[in-house]
Amino acid sequence: RFNRADARLLLAAGRLRVDGAVVRDARFEVREFSRIELDDELLQAGKPARYFMLNKPAGVVSATEHAEHRTVLDLLDEPDKHELHIGGRLDLTTTGLLVITNDGLWSRRLTEPRSRLGKIYRVSTEKPITPEYAEVFARGLYFAYENLTTLPAELEILGSHEALLTLHEGRYHQVKRMFGHFQNKVIGLHRERMGPLQLDPQLAPGQYRALSAAEIAQV
Ligand code: URA
Repeated sequence: RFNRADARLLLAAGRLRVDGAVVRDARFEVREFSRIELDDELLQAGKPARYFMLNKPAGVVSATEHAEHRTVLDLLDEPDKHELHIGGRLDLTTTGLLVITNDGLWSRRLTEPRSRLGKIYRVSTEKPITPEYAEVFARGLYFAYENLTTLPAELEILGSHEALLTLHEGRYHQVKRMFGHFQNKVIGLHRERMGPLQLDPQLAPGQYRALSAAEIAQV
């Protein structure tokens, strides 16, 4: 409805308000959650941003629709579920922290490698884990299919068959493929943390809760 020049004039005149505050900077980032008014006219009502953490059980897919399996959205008792998406999917058999939101910018900050936020996985394996794994994971592993080398990952060995692995990216089946380099099968995989967000120990598998304002602000 307005061209660039019009918009600049409106901004300069202080006629545009976002969430009640006058905005004069043309670089201001308008989001779908913002209420936008021009003089007394409502241009966009805005909508509430929603953020949840879920303890994903095994056997439920990290997708919004699936022909065979239940999806994580089926576990949520919330309105307008089609607006929600999953920030950082987990495999069918993987359990643990899953973040579900309608705020795409926020979830990208949480998941993209550029943010350098660690995702921590508790891994159980079929065969013993040796200190060599930590060296190889720290150097990075070449994935021929994608023609890339994984970012340095930290391995903390907890027991003969158990470790915590911190990744800074999420490639397809990444943890299973990293252990697969040693022909060691992953038999349990559980995400405990994504950056500042820790899976709430009160949440049983399949349960979820809204994130607190403090948790949302940490990302
Ligand atoms: N790595 C995997 O192999 N699977 C997951 O679900 C997450 C990380």
